Amino acid sequence: MANNKRMVRVFDTTLRDGEQSPGCSMNVAEKIEVAKRLELLGVDVIEAGYPASSPGDLESVKTIAGIIKQSAVAGLCRALEKDIDAAREALQKAENPYVHIFLATSPVHMEYKLKMTPDQVLERAVNSVKYAKKFCSDVEFSAEDAFRSDPDFVCKIFSEVIAAGALTVNFPDTVGYAMPAEFGGRIRYILEHTKGIEKALLSVHCHNDLGLAVANSLAAIGAGAGQAECTINGIGERAGNASLEEIVMALRVRKDYFSADTRIDSTQIYPVSRLVSQVTGVKVQPNKAIVGENAFAHEAGIHQHGVLANPETYEIMTPESVGISKKELVLGKHSGKHALRERLSELGFNVEEKALDEVFARFKELADHKKTVSDRDIEALVIGTTGAAPEKWKLDRWVINAGSSVSATSAIRLEAEDGGMREAVHFGNGCIDAAFSAINNLIGKEVALEMFELGSITGDADAQGEAMVKISYNGRRWNGRGVSTNIIESAIMAYVAAINSMEAEAVH
Ligand code: KIV
Ligand code: ZN
Repeated sequence: MANNKRMVRVFDTTLRDGEQSPGCSMNVAEKIEVAKRLELLGVDVIEAGYPASSPGDLESVKTIAGIIKQSAVAGLCRALEKDIDAAREALQKAENPYVHIFLATSPVHMEYKLKMTPDQVLERAVNSVKYAKKFCSDVEFSAEDAFRSDPDFVCKIFSEVIAAGALTVNFPDTVGYAMPAEFGGRIRYILEHTKGIEKALLSVHCHNDLGLAVANSLAAIGAGAGQAECTINGIGERAGNASLEEIVMALRVRKDYFSADTRIDSTQIYPVSRLVSQVTGVKVQPNKAIVGENAFAHEAGIHQHGVLANPETYEIMTPESVGISKKELVLGKHSGKHALRERLSELGFNVEEKALDEVFARFKELADHKKTVSDRDIEALVIGTTGAAPEKWKLDRWVINAGSSVSATSAIRLEAEDGGMREAVHFGNGCIDAAFSAINNLIGKEVALEMFELGSITGDADAQGEAMVKISYNGRRWNGRGVSTNIIESAIMAYVAAINSMEAEAVH
């Protein structure tokens, strides 16, 4: 094992490239929770959003910039003064502001999207970096679709933006087209032919259209790239971005091969993966490396036998090293707040005192309905109490009458912000339709249901039901999640949570 390990910088774009992909939207409160956990995870840069894209995005980048102290907070901008001005406003309070400017450099993007010549692109790139440097020292320039661009043109543009003050130049494989050896070769070429590259950091940003985003990022790191842009669980446009947890653990497990590492606290990986999955409503596939349900499961007898004799027979890293606690410890109704706090911390959750009171109250309520409260139950409680939008509406009570020979009827009563109760009754094509239609009636909005999923937190008979919904209204989308020992109630709670996210953004 080599001792001269170099540090690779981790630039997380879960809240920007991840969040902008369909079905991954988060409300501001959820983005704040994710940002806090990314900071705890130890990412070097948190790309918090794209401030010029909407007033809501500007506000959420601003809020995150005011909270995060250790990681740099980045705002994405097109190479336009108005975008850079929006980033400037959003990053005013950031301890470590970071401006990320992108402009496409591939022939197809320049001709058909930008309608600009290469010389115009070069001039725009340099001017925008100079403009951003007036207020922010940490500026990154990304050559969008760099992999399909002329390598010499990319070297030229990188040389000039570095001369203009860019501290990082990013080489994205925007459409996930590269092959690993080819991508590593391209990175070597860029490093050898870009003037002034020794004064800057070369970054990569890989998409996963051919399932190669992580392999390409690792090939680039092997070739000398100093920063990887990635997302938790690999969420992102189309087939996603390179997954942070896979890059980080590949570097750590194979330090003999890469002689490189990151500043990531890998024991925080699993909790942040669960949080992102819960707030986006996007499930992690069971066989996903590092964080999938089966990533550390050993079914075959011969494997189980080997792992019991020595875990190294079939495990190249321990579950604990990525924050998965294998010593399942069940709590029950006699467990106190201290035991809950201990278990939460073993599971990687550092819950503040006020939030702990709320989690504890919900834990007690759950323990009254359920014999044992497992780690998954606890995790669901914490995630359910963090990042939720203010409760404009709260479920007070519900009744549903349904059967094989009657139409389903629901009566739903919600408590409004002012403490007043509102009730509505509705028929429906099944329990869920009846309940959701009653809620629409009650709030006076024809909200559409885009996605509805029901599952259970654990596999036992008294398991808690977990519902995820995605709703849309006026062309925008929100997610909601509900957990209850009654499966119908979890669905109603999820719908109300999504409505609250919508109302928090004052949509009329
Ligand atoms: O995929 C891409 O090229 C991007 C840039 C904005 C870096 O997301
Ligand atoms: Zn991207």
